Amino acid sequence: TAIRREDYQAPDWLVPEVELAFALDPARTVVTARLSVTRNGGHDRPLRLDGEELELLSLRVDGKPSEPRFEDGRLVVDLEGDAATVETEVAIAPEKNSQLMGLYASGGILCTQCEAEGFRRITFFPDRPDVLSRYRVRLEADRTRFPVLLANGNPLEQGECGDGRHFELWEDPFPKPCYLFAIVAGDLQCNRDSFTTMSGRAVDLGIWVREADLPKTRLAMQALKDSMAWDERTYGREYDLDRFNIVAVSDFNFGAMENKGLNIFNTRYVLADPETASDGDIDAVAAVVAHEYFHNWSGNRVTCRDWFQLSLKEGLTVFRDQGFSEDMGSEAVQRIDQVRTLRAAQFPEDAGPLAHPIRPDSYLEIANFYTATVYNKGAEVIRMMRTILGAEAYRQGTDLYFERHDGQAVTCEDFVACMEEASGADLSQFRLWYSQAGTPTVRARLEQGATGAALHLAQDIPATPGQPAKQPMAIPLKVALIGAESGREIVPERLVLLNGAEQVETFEGVDEPAFLSINRGFSAPVIVAAERRQGEIEALAAGDNDSFARYEAGQELMTRDLLAAITAGGPVATDAILAAVGATLRSQSLDPAFKADAIALPSESLLIDKLDRADPARVHQVREEVRRALGTGLRDELSRAYTAASAADPASLSGADKGLRRLRAATLALLSAGDPQFGAELAQRQYDEARTMTERQSALMVLAMLGPDAATAALDDFYARFEDDPLVIDKWFAVQASIPGEATLNAVERLQAHPAFTMANPNRLRALAGSFAGTPSAFHRADGRGYDWLADVIVAADKLNPQTAARFVAPLGRWRKIEEGRAARMRGALQRILAEPGLSKDVFELASKSLG
Ligand code: ARG
Ligand code: ZN
Repeated sequence: TAIRREDYQAPDWLVPEVELAFALDPARTVVTARLSVTRNGGHDRPLRLDGEELELLSLRVDGKPSEPRFEDGRLVVDLEGDAATVETEVAIAPEKNSQLMGLYASGGILCTQCEAEGFRRITFFPDRPDVLSRYRVRLEADRTRFPVLLANGNPLEQGECGDGRHFELWEDPFPKPCYLFAIVAGDLQCNRDSFTTMSGRAVDLGIWVREADLPKTRLAMQALKDSMAWDERTYGREYDLDRFNIVAVSDFNFGAMENKGLNIFNTRYVLADPETASDGDIDAVAAVVAHEYFHNWSGNRVTCRDWFQLSLKEGLTVFRDQGFSEDMGSEAVQRIDQVRTLRAAQFPEDAGPLAHPIRPDSYLEIANFYTATVYNKGAEVIRMMRTILGAEAYRQGTDLYFERHDGQAVTCEDFVACMEEASGADLSQFRLWYSQAGTPTVRARLEQGATGAALHLAQDIPATPGQPAKQPMAIPLKVALIGAESGREIVPERLVLLNGAEQVETFEGVDEPAFLSINRGFSAPVIVAAERRQGEIEALAAGDNDSFARYEAGQELMTRDLLAAITAGGPVATDAILAAVGATLRSQSLDPAFKADAIALPSESLLIDKLDRADPARVHQVREEVRRALGTGLRDELSRAYTAASAADPASLSGADKGLRRLRAATLALLSAGDPQFGAELAQRQYDEARTMTERQSALMVLAMLGPDAATAALDDFYARFEDDPLVIDKWFAVQASIPGEATLNAVERLQAHPAFTMANPNRLRALAGSFAGTPSAFHRADGRGYDWLADVIVAADKLNPQTAARFVAPLGRWRKIEEGRAARMRGALQRILAEPGLSKDVFELASKSLG
């Protein structure tokens, strides 16, 4: 029974006020709820309350005991008048909650996760985002085990209850949907700080962790203060409570959660210092802290009417956190990273059986729609609106949106309407980005005359499940022409809005042969297929003055030659790739971070996506051949760059030093591909001398790829050194599960039996299963055993934690991209999953859609 967007109905009953009391105990917690409910509109339907795995102890209506009645799993309460007080008392068992939705225990801490539909696992309630309530919450627990008691909003009162128990009362003055509810109880220490908002209010900030982790919260605290200041500067958004708390827990289904005034995070996105977290991890901490903080306006003050509108808050908030990262670091490097993520995670979604628009039309299980499409393509859609309207009108649009809809639960349509009203633009065709799935392909051909040029553009949007035919979309393309002889921008950058199926754009004053620089800055999330002249892509890779377009040209060049060799079956033509990479390495003007990105070959997954029925072993073989050729052919350049990059200051997290470390890792990997013996020595030395996790982890990965002789000592050292740090041990698992080649499965099976492995912890499971499934030459063993292993993991994990289990289905769903022998085995694995009795909705939906 799918839920459909078009079936939306306003809630029958509203719940303006909620009082909750928790008698906390990991084994059995009693939750008392007092809901003031009011009839919404003239109907005579009863109040229906969602509830899941709740033991109902009592029900009262207006103070009088009432006999409970259940229909389709809901508690149905018949009410006479237009307002009532409904009281329930339920018991729940947090320590038995392995789904990590609702109230659960993580390493002795009690915490909650309610988005999307976890609140119903805490108490009976209309669990939907358009019911907004004011909450008053009383927490009571044993003082020794749970000295800290936190909830949303501001603390009101605290005290003793006798028998070693204490209580704390909290109130959140802002009406909110129940998915933003949160409580935490535990033995936590606090990194305290404060922030003064633009109107001069002081906010107490707290990051709550286990005592031993306190020193690792400094970077997250700085990121929080930077985020608060950035949102004031960039969007005019000010924080609104006296307190802002972040709590870190080790068992968490995803990254973090924006609960009002009480964000709860996966430890992975809070705890970081340079010895135990790589530069990439540290950047991710800042980005996620910013993301959750920004939700306070884009998500909490203005929330979603229903879950089909998820991109309203997630697409917008990702776009906001991207802007923050661009301003804090290098915009060009950030953009390359964003596009890489989009291509690695979202393009395959759009091209496969799970394709859906950023505003889906139906779902079985909403947890399956927290996707790269809703988040990352959703962010690209907001970015395109800013590109089309201009930064100023965009800002007026967001001002209008936050002002008009403050305190409301609204739709994507409401957001677009604000953009239109503030700018005067007509976005009716642009709205197709919300309803049509699939990545558009833009074909481009530049036709040159004596004094001008004509750019012929055409768009195709592929059929996707449920959407056989598409309408042309509005696609903003930043375009410039570069002189083939002068190397200059002979036609300056302009914005071309492609909104027909075909369109011609003309340029005047083009008096030398021109090269086409298109989709600069990745102005639209599309695939560009441009007809290129001889030498054009090489020239753009060497000199496009838009750094993203320059990176892109390099990737296009590499992809062209790799794909040609993969499909032709013969040896690889490496000359053009060597020349381009060599020029990049020798350049005096490019910065190191850009160089690191530009010399990296497109990933095996990306190449598979571009092929018709790929043989992953062949893809791996060809790509390795090119890496070897680069390592030998450019050994001098690589060695020089490696040595120069070794000067990075280990104590510095500046963009320049991070860029040097990135380049050092990239050059080390290529050097070792060219000369394994030399690579092993270099990597071992880098490992031994490492002062940062960035250096240590990249050296370890290179050693691991060189085989057990090179890697065993370092892997053992790494484990012994970081045994007590779960986040680093996750890396130890991930590195070994990401080694290319068919032998990796054997290591993965051994790791699964390792005492430190557990399926109950999502980070650990992702480190092993996610890394393995993300390594094509390891996962796609010809005998299909990689698929069988993953299917077994999904079935076993599903019994504990359906949401996390479901995240591993997508790799099996990519069978249409793989040669028929393996594809049949992938389908077999999916069928075996589907045959399992008692499968969750989560896994069932994705596995059945994946088979098609
Ligand atoms: N709103 C959270 C965030 O973007 C993520 C919640 C994910 N929920 C889920 N059921 N997958 O930060
Ligand atoms: Zn979010």
